[in-house]
Amino acid sequence: MQNGSGNERVIVFDTTLRDGEQAPGASMTLQQKLQVARVLGHLGVDVIEAGFPVASPGDFEAVQAVARAVEGPTIAALARASRGDIDRAVDALTGARKQRVHVFLATSPIHRQHKLKMSREDVLRLATGSVAYARSRCEDVEFSAEDAARTEPEFLAEVVERVIEAGATTINIPDTVGYAVPAQFAELIAFLRRTVRGIDDIVLSVHCHDDLGLAVANSLAALQAGARQVECTVNGVGERAGNCSLEEVVMALRTRADFLKLETGIRTQQLCNASRVVAAATGFHVARNKAVVGQNAFAHESGIHQHGMIEFPLTYEVMRPEDVGFKSTSLVLGKHSGRHALASRLRDLGYELEPAQIDQVFEELKKLADKKKEIYDGDLEALLVSLFHRSAAASWTLVSLTAASGTGTPPSAAVRLQRRGGRAQEEAATGDGPVDAVFKCIERITGVNAKLRSLQIASVSAGEDAQGEATVDVESDGRRFRGRGVNTDIVVASAEAYLEVVNHIAAGRLPRRSPAVPEMTCGAV
Ligand code: KIV
Ligand code: ZN
Repeated sequence: MQNGSGNERVIVFDTTLRDGEQAPGASMTLQQKLQVARVLGHLGVDVIEAGFPVASPGDFEAVQAVARAVEGPTIAALARASRGDIDRAVDALTGARKQRVHVFLATSPIHRQHKLKMSREDVLRLATGSVAYARSRCEDVEFSAEDAARTEPEFLAEVVERVIEAGATTINIPDTVGYAVPAQFAELIAFLRRTVRGIDDIVLSVHCHDDLGLAVANSLAALQAGARQVECTVNGVGERAGNCSLEEVVMALRTRADFLKLETGIRTQQLCNASRVVAAATGFHVARNKAVVGQNAFAHESGIHQHGMIEFPLTYEVMRPEDVGFKSTSLVLGKHSGRHALASRLRDLGYELEPAQIDQVFEELKKLADKKKEIYDGDLEALLVSLFHRSAAASWTLVSLTAASGTGTPPSAAVRLQRRGGRAQEEAATGDGPVDAVFKCIERITGVNAKLRSLQIASVSAGEDAQGEATVDVESDGRRFRGRGVNTDIVVASAEAYLEVVNHIAAGRLPRRSPAVPEMTCGAV
């Protein structure tokens, strides 16, 4: 479809809440998912893939909540090629004005042989049967040929043609393992457009992973070859090396519209907000030098560059910082700031909260202002993260902690924890450092044993009294967990981060595994 500008419109399908959340350790609470979904709505994405409802009751609930809360974009839910999955997706989507069921089935020889143990005929039968069934329950049905980039092109064309006949309205061509290179991927799209009957009646989509760092390049090549939907995630979060980054592909389309003749409906001034909200919700920090939304994306250090910038900004910048909503970190609030100032700052940062939640943030802010003179955006966001996390019924909370370290004495700690509905318990331990001693105390009290893979400490704002954010990456029972804690004392922040993980493990709230082999029979779905 051409717009007034003469450019053709590309549909932006955001899968931060589904593929993005599948990244190990990126799981979000329901509140965080809703927050992200609202930000995506403001950003102007066309489709929000809200989750994989059959994966867990939590996923179902999240898709249902997003479907009810966010107006504007189409809400999509993922389903394997099975009747049970499709029914669950349709049920979760009730409440959305515009609903899409997204059915996927692997088509490549590697997946057919080793994962599905199916012949080509089995795959064709199951794909067409499940799409026809999905279409009987929903007007808008997307079909994804998982691992399409490694599928025999002729067989892929046959699958695509048959699922179009069965009623699919969007066909997605994923590079599931990030194997494609731009020219070859563009040729695959061009080949499908040349050979598949009915392809002009559907939307052709692409979904690229970043294993070789080519997700954005491959997506752009496919769009140039005629695809008109791009699937992506904010900050490029996703399985392994992640997905095509929304902000990068959108800004490439906008900045090079002169050449590409394509455009999206994204409000690009909201990109930095969206990036920050997703980074806070997932705990995945954005690299300083990340294109478009990294802290250094518009910073100029060298004298020659600075001189050029002062004379004429376009000498060294292809985009203007204000086009992506880039602001340098600013002082926000202090001891005497009121609720209105807080609410307005939260809105500026992309957070839309209920009045009761604003009250909660306000209370915490006042406590923080007693400890810290100046409160920055980073402090406010850290506070939101810890509030949303605390709302997920915790089994254990920190009552008190003391830790000692220094030269010549073994590091030691004493920790007191309160069990929900139970009594407080205390332990003391020595360790390789004060943080290690604290973790030992927590393990002894809770009985949860986990292997610490990494502990990162970062400052969330500026100034000597800046708060420290601790992020722990932990493995337990072969699964990865990520926990965060923020405090002016980094040992306390580390304890809170570890406790968050322990609470997840104790409550059995395990992160989802990636979609496995569908449990279904060939032919009948
Ligand atoms: O990468 C992939 O193949 C997917 C599909 C489910 C679309 O995420
Ligand atoms: Zn994917």
